[in-house]
Amino acid sequence: MAKTTFEEISAADFFYRNRDIAGFTNPSRAIFAATRELVENSLDAAESLKTPPDIYVRLSFDGEASSETKIYKLRVEDNGIGVPPRHIPSAFGQVLFGSKYKLKQQRGTFGLGGKMAILYGQITTHQPACIISSTGVSKIYMYKLMIDIRRNRPLILDRKVLINKERWRGTIVEFNLEGDYFRAMPKILEYFKQTAMVNPYANLTFVDPKGRLYKFTRVTMEMPDPPKETLPHPYGVDVELLQRLIQVTPHRNMMEFLRNHFHRVGEITARKFLEFANIRSSKNPKKLAHNEIVRLMRMLKKFREFLPPDASCLSPLGEELLRAGVLKELKPEFVVVHQRRPSAYAGHPFIIEVAIAYGGEIPKRGTFPIYRFANRIPLLYDEASDVSVRVINSINWRRYKVTPDMPVAIATHICSTKIPYKTVGKEFIADRPEVGREIANGLRGAARQLQRFLTRREHVDREQRRLGIFSKYLPKIAQFSAQLAGKEKTPDIKKLLWSVKSFETEKA
Ligand SMILES: Nc1ncnc2c1ncn2[C@@H]1O[C@H](COP(=O)(O)OP(=O)(O)OP(=O)(O)O)[C@@H](O)[C@H]1O
Ligand SMILES: [Mg+2]
Repeated sequence: MAKTTFEEISAADFFYRNRDIAGFTNPSRAIFAATRELVENSLDAAESLKTPPDIYVRLSFDGEASSETKIYKLRVEDNGIGVPPRHIPSAFGQVLFGSKYKLKQQRGTFGLGGKMAILYGQITTHQPACIISSTGVSKIYMYKLMIDIRRNRPLILDRKVLINKERWRGTIVEFNLEGDYFRAMPKILEYFKQTAMVNPYANLTFVDPKGRLYKFTRVTMEMPDPPKETLPHPYGVDVELLQRLIQVTPHRNMMEFLRNHFHRVGEITARKFLEFANIRSSKNPKKLAHNEIVRLMRMLKKFREFLPPDASCLSPLGEELLRAGVLKELKPEFVVVHQRRPSAYAGHPFIIEVAIAYGGEIPKRGTFPIYRFANRIPLLYDEASDVSVRVINSINWRRYKVTPDMPVAIATHICSTKIPYKTVGKEFIADRPEVGREIANGLRGAARQLQRFLTRREHVDREQRRLGIFSKYLPKIAQFSAQLAGKEKTPDIKKLLWSVKSFETEKA
């Protein structure tokens, strides 16, 4: 009989075996994914201090791997918050370790991205990564490390402490990886361009393996307020979460427990809920039996009087910044931006922002270029699986006088304490009905404004054509009529043309 063997694998081992689900599918996509993961960490790190990000990325050639792929050195430097020295090894050498497992709007979500990049580098080049960081104190810490994949632990190969005379604050990550830059180049450049579009307060510098410099300079020093951490909303909780909260709570009665651990639950709502669920307000949550916790969870979901999630913990881009970004990167003739009111799915608040740009340097392609963003990250791959694309395709654009051959570009941005990504590669967003509905409403609102602009422009164009015809033929008509009437002097038609013009302008 065949013998079955059972074994357990670590989280690092899992992602080592299944790196495709994190976006590290092939040498071209891997180099793109590594770059974006590090850039996103740097943006988060600067924004958490409300410091306008200064990010420097350099990809340099470091040797041949095969006929198609090469070894590159990737270096990313930032002016962010820095990593405290005791956390550097795990933050960069232990999969599923991070500081962003919070209900807070951030780019990072999984505690995985940076490590996936380093892990990919390690398995393709067998070399360690170098991390240099300081939180702005008197010392700078340098670590050389690898990931012990089987144990999911950092392996520290070298550690140095340097004096920080200038009180530099930030992080530098450098490692080698195999990749196909020339195939990935269009996507990487597009990534920087779109990142600049939704982060117009960031300075991004990219030096590519040929030494070409791409600079995306900030157009504003104004930054959105840093997002705040929030508590779970009662509609989104499950038994596991309740059990965890009960374990850590210092509160000894249900009233205080509900008021202190849930989003938008004040004294009045808590009292109403306890009456509704028939639970004593003095009951100690730590004494709830398992079946009572299950019942509590069901009652929380049933109670209709909880306030909807409050979006003050979110930090959307805002109409002004979105407009500035679109104008800067797409250079359209006209742009309309629209921010929807906050909404929620499964207890998570979210805000949708959309922009429709028209004319100028936007190309006529036969399909609309779609720019998708989530928590200020551009999403470039797997467009067809994204909720925004499904919504855009379902809108009847002709109703708004918009046809696919027009130079129209569409941007959608969702910001949330929890973006419903479909994979850990963060490339496309799940089709949550609430999210889809908000995107559709936002786009319809923006499309109506574009329609007004197009109608006005069409009218002006038509009148200008008419005036062109008038000014071409009126002199001739005047001349012939003068001849026919036997008059020597042709009448002055300027006055007539002026009156037609001013009449038309008034109408427009
Ligand atoms: N440039 C940086 N500056 C400051 N802290 C950083 C930087 N890069 C990484 N970190 C820290 O390391 C942690 C792990 O980063 P990693 O990219 O692996 O995961 P994440 O950003 O938390 O989530 P995600 O998998 O969604 O990227 C972060 O949570 C953050 O605390
Ligand atoms: Mg990250």
